[in-house]
Amino acid sequence: MQSTMDLGNASQIVSQIIEPIDLTTLESSQMAQLEPNAPVLRIIGKAKLSGHVPISGAKNSILALMAGTLLSSEGCRIRNVPNLADVQRMSDILETLGVKISRNGEVLDLDTSNLTTNSAPYELVSKMRASFFAVGSLLARLGSAKIPLPGGCAIGARPVELHVRGLQSLGAFVQIDHGIVHAHAMSPNGRLQGAKIYLDYPSVGATETLMMAATLAEGQTIIENAALEPEVVDLADLCMAMGAKIRGAGTSTIIIDGVEKLHFADFTAIPDRVEAATFMVAAAITRSTLSMSPVIPAHLTAAISKLQDIGVTVRQDSDNMITVIGGDNYRAVDIETLPYPGFPTDMQAQFMALLTICEGNGVVTETVFENRLQHVAELNRMGANIRLKNNVAVVTGVPQLSGAPVMATDLRASAALVIAGLAADGETTVMGLHHLDRGYDRIEEKLRNVGAKLYRTTEAIPV
Ligand code: UD1
Repeated sequence: MQSTMDLGNASQIVSQIIEPIDLTTLESSQMAQLEPNAPVLRIIGKAKLSGHVPISGAKNSILALMAGTLLSSEGCRIRNVPNLADVQRMSDILETLGVKISRNGEVLDLDTSNLTTNSAPYELVSKMRASFFAVGSLLARLGSAKIPLPGGCAIGARPVELHVRGLQSLGAFVQIDHGIVHAHAMSPNGRLQGAKIYLDYPSVGATETLMMAATLAEGQTIIENAALEPEVVDLADLCMAMGAKIRGAGTSTIIIDGVEKLHFADFTAIPDRVEAATFMVAAAITRSTLSMSPVIPAHLTAAISKLQDIGVTVRQDSDNMITVIGGDNYRAVDIETLPYPGFPTDMQAQFMALLTICEGNGVVTETVFENRLQHVAELNRMGANIRLKNNVAVVTGVPQLSGAPVMATDLRASAALVIAGLAADGETTVMGLHHLDRGYDRIEEKLRNVGAKLYRTTEAIPV
């Protein structure tokens, strides 16, 4: 994480720094979110991009993989781990459970031989919902777990009843007491019992929690209406590398035959499809050409198809590399977020930024999270024309966005604002970078390396 201006690359653009940021147009609620001296990202728009962007390991996969390492006492090595605030938070939580973690570049070594407690602290779990998913592996390994409810977050309430009901089907007694989920396996030998579980909704986290829990259960578990996301498959692959017996991950029926014990594995996480899609949109919105690798093109089908409908050329160069070639004329498309393989909610905000400069009206319908359209107001501050009603946004293309001070409201919204800033006329200042740092490793560096003009600074913020 970078907290001050990077002098190396910023020197070319220092001369272009405009006046101190005008915060007078910000809402008071936004101002309240500003910490004194919090860094901001200053972007000087309209630079053409060109070159290659390296794509990091998938954040959402890695958080689940880290929870999965608790299943074995022999530890795990996970490769392709980016430097992200969320990974650090997950590490902090595992360390409170007794896991010893060391990092060497993008390799994370987790020594899980000695878990000292079954209880994760509220202060850490409340900051990151994915940490709740460790309830499954902890319960399977120790026979009991105490994890605080993750609580709401910026994009919605995000309940966990599917996780809880599934664990109960697996023979866990679950009690929620003062916001803490207490779970223990009811069988005398402390093991969960295989069961047939139907998920009312193909929740990614619930599928992961239950798949992990079932790996060490007695007998067979069948999860119906399971999530199909690539990150679920990645977690299944790690569990299988550790000796679990899992079939059907990536389909709606996952069958797990429980085993007594799992062992060490050395595992490489898949590339981050959301990060790749973010750079794809960055290329499109700046009408530039960018290649990126490693990617798994099949994971990007929905994004590629929407870009092509808009009028962007996407070329598959090899098994793991694509090139996005922006054009001059873009037409609006409609987008509805859905579970995989539908259009991902995690790419909705970035695509909305692109729709703001497409000709015509595009209707964006968010069906996965109820409150994931907070970037609309910020994009409108940059000259976009978006009308919002409940979970539907109608985006009417404008010829040009204009730079403005904007506030990131969640992780993917922050990426959307950065992308919009790259295309906008003048300077955009993005505040609330703690959201961005949750999920994008070295985003400024990656963008600067392909010609973007942006830097992080704590200067010139009137407080
Ligand atoms: C994961 C991803 C997140 C992504 C989301 C959907 C991680 C760490 N995060 O989140 O980036 O946006 O998938 O692709 O992998 N729900 C319930 N009850 C439950 C569980 C979920 O109502 O017990 C609801 C949620 O509130 C939400 C919807 O189901 O409205 C989808 O949630 P889910 O698939 O569980 O997302 P996460 O696993 O939290």
